[in-house]
Amino acid sequence: MTTTRPATSSGVIRVSELLKVENLTKVFTSGLTGGYEIRAVDGISFTVKPGEIVSLVGESGSGKTTVGKLILRLLTPTSGRILFEGEDITEFDKKRLKTEYYRKVQAVFQDPFASFNPLHEIDRAFDLVFRSFLPNVGKEEREEMIDHALEGVGLNPSEVRGKFPHQLSGGQLQRILIARALLVRPKLLIADEAVSMLDASTRIDVLNLLGDFRDKYNTSVLFVTHDLALGYYISDSTIIMYRGTIVEMGDTERVFHNPLHPYTKMLLESVPDINVKWEFKGIEPEKEEGAVYQIKGCRYAPRCPLAYDKCFSVRPELVEVEKDHWVACHLYGGE
Ligand SMILES: Nc1ncnc2c1ncn2[C@@H]1O[C@H](COP(=O)(O)OP(=O)(O)O)[C@@H](O)[C@H]1O
Ligand code: SF4
Ligand SMILES: [Mg+2]
Repeated sequence: MTTTRPATSSGVIRVSELLKVENLTKVFTSGLTGGYEIRAVDGISFTVKPGEIVSLVGESGSGKTTVGKLILRLLTPTSGRILFEGEDITEFDKKRLKTEYYRKVQAVFQDPFASFNPLHEIDRAFDLVFRSFLPNVGKEEREEMIDHALEGVGLNPSEVRGKFPHQLSGGQLQRILIARALLVRPKLLIADEAVSMLDASTRIDVLNLLGDFRDKYNTSVLFVTHDLALGYYISDSTIIMYRGTIVEMGDTERVFHNPLHPYTKMLLESVPDINVKWEFKGIEPEKEEGAVYQIKGCRYAPRCPLAYDKCFSVRPELVEVEKDHWVACHLYGGE
């Protein structure tokens, strides 16, 4: 993960990142009247390089899905910019999104059942991709491409084609959706809890598949997950989110082997260890949601065992404490 734009020897600026998110903010209001502001994403910045797998990790409600939906333009940002190949996609109109952007940016979500029409054979799921992005492909070539894509995700086409969704497992359906997303060879895949509903062995197969696809086609992946172990397994870089803010990010090895932010440490300590029986560690419960977003300082302060006065009034900035390792906590960097 880098925030620099290195100049080439000829002096031309080369865009080293595929995706650059700058000060991205999305504010929702809870309830119709008298609701409070939910700053679901609150001024976050990060980059994704070509071929990089970046995990976006955090507990439920930390804003991960909102980030993914903003990048996919399924939501409009309250403020901030989303640069893809150097262009601000928040300014793209619907036509440009459809014809250009979604050809390069695809997504897979958590619940595979929700993405299929139960009344149609699963083959129908590929129709829109061909209609939108590959309209000139003939019938024969199309059938071959679908078979090839299904084989690529470890499915036997004859076992799944012509079937209805209820005749297949969640794992098979999710692989079909991944095959569909990868069929256009996107430059960026957003996978939002895409393997969460799969059983453990299928999950690893699908993760390996994403890794293989990246190696083969240099596809970048934004891997959204609440599961630290999955993030560690698959990603080059990791972003830890807490209540709309990035608390720590950088090279995955550094973040996992030298966690610095008290929240990251707490998350890592709560990962179950196969050799240790469960024991209550007394994790501090979260403050009531509305109040969390009103905290001027560090959002984690009400739960943080190390919090001091400044933490409640001043928001900590992300600082680079070692190469490619950023932390937002008053205990590090700054004055
Ligand atoms: N459409 C919406 N309207 C109001 N609040 C929303 C909406 N979408 C998400 N939120 C709120 O934004 C916060 C972040 O949600 P989300 O991005 O789904 O988090 P995560 O994916 O990390 O669980 C949560 O408090 C959630 O309730
Ligand atoms: S800024 Fe303060 S409250 Fe926030 S994580 Fe650091 S020590 Fe804890
Ligand atoms: Mg989510």
